[in-house]
This record gives sequence, C-alpha cells and structure tokens, in this order.
Amino acid sequence: PRVAVIVVAAGSGTRLGASAPKAFVGIDEHSILRHALDGVASAPSAQVVVVVPAGREGDARTEAEAAFGDRSDLVSVVTGGETRQRSVAAGLAALWADVECVLVHDAARALTPPAVFARVIDEVMRSRAGVVPARPVVDTLKRVDGAVVTAAVDRSPLVAAQTPQGFPRELLATAYADAVDEHTDDAALFAAAGHRVRTVAGDDLSFKITTPADLDRARHLLTPSRA
Ligand code: CTP
Ligand code: MG
Repeated sequence: PRVAVIVVAAGSGTRLGASAPKAFVGIDEHSILRHALDGVASAPSAQVVVVVPAGREGDARTEAEAAFGDRSDLVSVVTGGETRQRSVAAGLAALWADVECVLVHDAARALTPPAVFARVIDEVMRSRAGVVPARPVVDTLKRVDGAVVTAAVDRSPLVAAQTPQGFPRELLATAYADAVDEHTDDAALFAAAGHRVRTVAGDDLSFKITTPADLDRARHLLTPSRA
C-alpha cells in the first residue's frame, strides 16, 4: 500500500512552557521533532508530511534531512494552523494523489516505537476502518459534580487513545472536508462521519510530551543507565 504519515508539529507547547515551539525543544542533543521523525523514518511510508509553525519550515527541512538522509525527498513540509485539526487539514492538502493509507501522528509522541506504526498500517489495510493505538486506563476514575464525587467509574470498558492513528485516505479526506465541529482527535472526527474505528495495542513509550515532567521522563529514557 502507499502509506503517508502526517506529523503534526505546529503547536506552541503552552503547557511545556519552553522558549521555543514544543517540537523544536531539545530532549537530548536532538529535538522532539527529530526524535519523532527518526521513528517515522523506520515506518514503510511513501510520503511524510511535516506540519510546523509559520517561520519554522526551514528548520523542519533540516531535521527531516537529518532523519531521512537520502530518502528526504519523501518529506514535504507545510505550515500548520490555529488548531490541531487545522494543522491536520493542512497536512492532508499536501498528500500525493496515489496515497491509499494515511497515518496522523503527534510529533510530541517523540519516542513512539516503530512497531506501533507497523501495527496501525497492517490493521488499516486488513479492516479498512480507522485505527487507534490504545492503552488500558491506569488511574482510578471518578465522576464528579464540582468537588463532590458522585460515582465511581468502571474503567474496564475504557482505553486511552494514542497516535499514530491510521485511516483509508479517501475516507479521512472526505471526513475532514465535511467536518463542522472541532474534535479531540482524528478518530473522533472520523467516527462522527459515520465510519468504524478499531484499536490495536499502543505502547507506554508513545506517551505525549506535554508538561516539563514529561520532558524529564523522555530525557531519562534516552540516558544510558550507568551500570
Ligand atoms: N499541534 C499542531 N497544530 C496546532 C496544535 C497542536 O500541529 N495548532 C500538534 C502539536 O505540535 C503536537 C500535537 O498536535 O505535536 C498534540 O498537541 P499538544 O500536545 O496539545 O501540543 P501543543 O498544542 O503544542 O501544546 P499545548 O496544548 O500545551 O499548547
Ligand atoms: Mg494543544
């Protein structure tokens, strides 16, 4: 199949609170975006679209060349939008005509293992549904009314959704073109258009770098342990 990966990296990173847009913040000597692209480079993709803040296109091209080397002609860089949904739409607009399967991935999930990309692609091709990598919910959940707990919530039918999320390209493009509301993720937008969404196993390493504590966690994971 002809697979494209859209890497959304156009957010500002308000909760991380760094001086640069989040994707351009260093984890070790490499940025969040570079680590994300190293993972994407291991997936069997025919095209990669990197969506970045206005003014960062040249920096993104440099990162893509470092990650993809002599395959960097696969990579397109486009400017993102005000919301994640608009950034994904900008990525979709840059897809080549012959792409059949599209994955949408958060650059902020910089340490996502290559096996997750393979599972998502295989399940899209097998099921023709939308596909979300999912993890069990670990926290104990409560329903609340203000500060008052009103009910315990059974977490057994719940999962936490990660990226990359995969879709048949034509169905996702049409769902985006028709979308009126803002959705929390691509799978929600796709489901709102009436399409099926399935899960595959996600991975703890696919956690999203959101806060300074998450960035610390990523740094520790990349630091060789001293024996
Ligand atoms: N994203 C994007 N365009 C936007 C907003 C978000 O491409 N307008 C991307 C981010 O770059 C990130 C992913 O969507 O890779 C998930 O978003 P999030 O973790 O919320 O990143 P930010 O929006 O940058 O962070 P914050 O919400 O703390 O400002
Ligand atoms: Mg955000």
